[in-house]
Amino acid sequence: MVNSRRMSLSDLLAQNRAWAAAQVARDPDYFARLTGGQHPRVLWIGCSDSRVPAEQVLGCGPGDLFVHRNVANIVAYNDINIAAVVQFATHNLGIEDVVVCGHYGCGGIRAACAHEAPTGYIGDWLAIAGWAQRAVDARLAAAGRVPEREAYLRLVVEENVRLQLTHLSHLSVVRDRWARTPGVPRLHGWVYDIGTGLVKAVEGSDT
Ligand code: CO
Repeated sequence: MVNSRRMSLSDLLAQNRAWAAAQVARDPDYFARLTGGQHPRVLWIGCSDSRVPAEQVLGCGPGDLFVHRNVANIVAYNDINIAAVVQFATHNLGIEDVVVCGHYGCGGIRAACAHEAPTGYIGDWLAIAGWAQRAVDARLAAAGRVPEREAYLRLVVEENVRLQLTHLSHLSVVRDRWARTPGVPRLHGWVYDIGTGLVKAVEGSDT
């Protein structure tokens, strides 16, 4: 495996040419087919973290997933970027399954839970995930549990997925689609484990 930090941009372009040539060698019509249009199976809303590449972890390739990624896989109400992505995916492309996928070891969630809150744009953005931390804190306090730090952060990562699904369910583009076709799009909460490569459903997240 190449250490990407050592790669120059010309290395990356050379890798691109090699990849494209290999695809054509395997399947001469590969790119011609892709130019005909896209019919992606799901909309993936994931973290920008470089260790969570949606297509690779699901064994997919070009054309399979419609992808939106941002820091800590957040669905913000005032974000016309994600609203437009959700609208295009569900209304225009006809995608019926939307996945919010968090990941253990998320630096965004770790920063959101730090004693010293992050500042600037990152702080503003991560504040949207703050309710996930407060929900976990309340649940743990009620149960009298004090998990160790990493276990605690995993709980917040999972709760953040549930929270962002709730935000998603409040977006007018989702509600409009539900009004026309009840239950579609279906919303799913997943979490990816960087340490094992495995994706699992977050308990209590499926709608
Ligand atoms: Co992350």
